[in-house]
Amino acid sequence: MIYLNGDFMPIEEARIPVLDRGFIFGDGVYEVIPVYSRKPFRLAEHLLRLQNSLDGIRLLNPHSDKEWSSLVEQIVAGNESDDQYLYLHVTRGVARRDHAFPKDVVPTVFIMSNPLLAPPRELLATGVAAITTSDNRWLRCDIKAISLLPNVLLRQMAIDAGAVEAVLLREGFMTEGAASNIFVVKNEILLAPPKNNLMLPGITYDIVLELAATNRIPHEVRSVSEYEVRTAQELLLTSSTKEIMPITRLDSKPVGDGKPGSMFALLYQLYQDYKMTVMRGSAAKF
Ligand code: PDD
Repeated sequence: MIYLNGDFMPIEEARIPVLDRGFIFGDGVYEVIPVYSRKPFRLAEHLLRLQNSLDGIRLLNPHSDKEWSSLVEQIVAGNESDDQYLYLHVTRGVARRDHAFPKDVVPTVFIMSNPLLAPPRELLATGVAAITTSDNRWLRCDIKAISLLPNVLLRQMAIDAGAVEAVLLREGFMTEGAASNIFVVKNEILLAPPKNNLMLPGITYDIVLELAATNRIPHEVRSVSEYEVRTAQELLLTSSTKEIMPITRLDSKPVGDGKPGSMFALLYQLYQDYKMTVMRGSAAKF
C-alpha cells in the first residue's frame, strides 16, 4: 500500500500526471526512513532533514510533523514486513512546463514502503569493493533532491567496475559515497568529513558519531584527504538501508589488510545494540 496525495492505494493503481515537476524537472526532495519491528527509526531527525531539504528548494512543507508521523504510521501498518524502508517524496506539483516556480500549485506527496533486508552476513564478513571517482555533482549536496542523475551515473560506474559504491573525491578531499556517507580509519582514529554543502548530512552518520562519542572511540570530524582515503586502515560506508558496511577493496587494491577491521566490528555491534535499545524503548524517541 502506498500513499499519494491524500489517498492510500496499491502501488499498481498510483498515477501521476506527466506534467508533474518531479517528472519534468526532478523538482522535488525525498527521504528514506528505516523501520525496524514496525517502529520508524529516528523519524524526528528524518523529518527535520526533509524540512531542511524543502527549505533548500523553497517549497513549503505540505504537512506538519504530526501529519507526517500519522501518514508514516498508516503506511507501516498497511505493509507486510516488520522491517521496512519508507520512501517519502515531495515535488513542486503539476503545472505547465516552465522553469520558474508555478503559482498556487499543490505539491505532490508520495510515500511507499519496501521490505528492509539487512546486508547479508557473508558480505559483512568479506566487506565490499568500492571505486574512487571525481565528485561531479552540484554544490548543494546537503539537499536530498530527487534529481539524482549524477549519483545514478556515479553508482553505475562502481557497478560496472564490479564494485558496490563510488567514493567521491573533490579537490583532493573525500566528500561521501554516491548513496552513502564514508568514514576512514587512520592510526586507530575514526575520521569523518564535516557536514557542509558538499555532502548529505546522513542520519546514520550522526548515529555513528554519537556512538563513537559515548563509547570513547577516538574520532575526528575534519576534512579527509584523498591520501588518507588511499592509505586507510579501514573504510566504512553508512546509510539508512545498508547501516554500516566495511569497504575492503578500493580501486581493486586491499584496504588495510583487505579484511573488515576492528573499528567496523566495534561500530557494527554498537549500532545493533543501539537499534535494539531504541526498538525496545519508548516510541517517543523512535
Ligand atoms: N541514501 N549520502 C547520500 C548521497 C545518500 O544518498 C545517502 C542515503 C546517504 C546516507 O544518509 P542516511 O544515513 O541518512 O541514509 C549519504 C538513501 C538511503 C537513498 O537514496 O536510498
